[in-house]
Amino acid sequence: MTLQPSHNLMNVENHILEMQNLHPGASGDLTSLLGDISFAAKIIAREVSHAGLVDILGATGDENVQGEQVQKLDEYANATMLRCLGRKGQVCLLGSEELEDVLEVDFGSGSGKYLVVFDPLDGSSNIDANVSIGTIFAIYARVSPHGPGQLRDVLQSGSKIVAAGYVVYGSSTMFVYTAGHGVHGFTLDPGIGEFLLSHQNIKIPFEAGIYSVNEGNEPRWTQQMKEIVRKLKYGCDGTAGKGCTARYIGSLVSDFHRNLLYGGVFLYPATEDVPNGKLRLVYEAAPLAMIAEHAGGYASDGNGPILDRIPDSIHERVPLFIGSRGTVLWIEKKMADPEFGAGL
Ligand code: AHG
Ligand code: MN
Ligand code: MN
Repeated sequence: MTLQPSHNLMNVENHILEMQNLHPGASGDLTSLLGDISFAAKIIAREVSHAGLVDILGATGDENVQGEQVQKLDEYANATMLRCLGRKGQVCLLGSEELEDVLEVDFGSGSGKYLVVFDPLDGSSNIDANVSIGTIFAIYARVSPHGPGQLRDVLQSGSKIVAAGYVVYGSSTMFVYTAGHGVHGFTLDPGIGEFLLSHQNIKIPFEAGIYSVNEGNEPRWTQQMKEIVRKLKYGCDGTAGKGCTARYIGSLVSDFHRNLLYGGVFLYPATEDVPNGKLRLVYEAAPLAMIAEHAGGYASDGNGPILDRIPDSIHERVPLFIGSRGTVLWIEKKMADPEFGAGL
């Protein structure tokens, strides 16, 4: 009798190690870094799971660089990521939605060859209502030669991302990542404190059956965007009932995760009053674009690939259309057509 390997006993640390073995000569720093992130995720998941019982709900009373009210869980998640990531010398720089400037990390040896950018707690407006939220991250290799990291290390296009992923704190807690060899999902077993492989090699359906957009912004969309969303509802041939169904959670990670598994498109277009859209390129759009593309999907800013955008600043905002490749490409094509939606 031969012992068959049991995938669901594969935890995320061993999976990352297997990915490392695909790169002979790898130092193990990236493996260690991804392990640190999954460790931070477990600590954050523990606080999220009983947030209502401890004094961790609600706002801190502070305002962040985005001009948004900082929630206690934003602060806790940010502090946890900083504590777990900045301690072993693999990183030269950390960038967070909750930090105005990048945090240069130097252990004297200045040898940290990676940098991590992250949104420590995505979907903050949903925290107090117990609606699922998440954490988003991306890891880059430094471009500056040595010493503490520099701003130019973080202003790289998403196409340079070495590994990216997210955690969704929902009915279960999941860790989803790619290091360039497929997109893989792990579900936290709180009883043993392990993320166990549950979704191997995720692929997103080519066409969307779901569209996710905040329709409350519709009065401020362009005519063209209004027609695009109308077509998504009615089907591209305009037949009522043949289009997408609507789902909008208001946490990017949760909307993205559902669309990744079921097939769907998430839209956060520019509007007259928010000309660059609401979402941030460096630690929201680009990491999820890396995941989308490695799962067979696509992410666009309306003109072209999110992964081609080189950020001018760490908190730069960008319009975002992400999910099923066929549907996002269709949106991009319609946005390039000046006649589409004209005269409606
Ligand atoms: P964050 O909580 O990190 O600021 O992100 C919130 C984002 C994103 O999660 C979500 O898709 C979007 O804000 C929702 O915006 P609206 O409430 O304007 O729809
Ligand atoms: Mn966010
Ligand atoms: Mn956030």
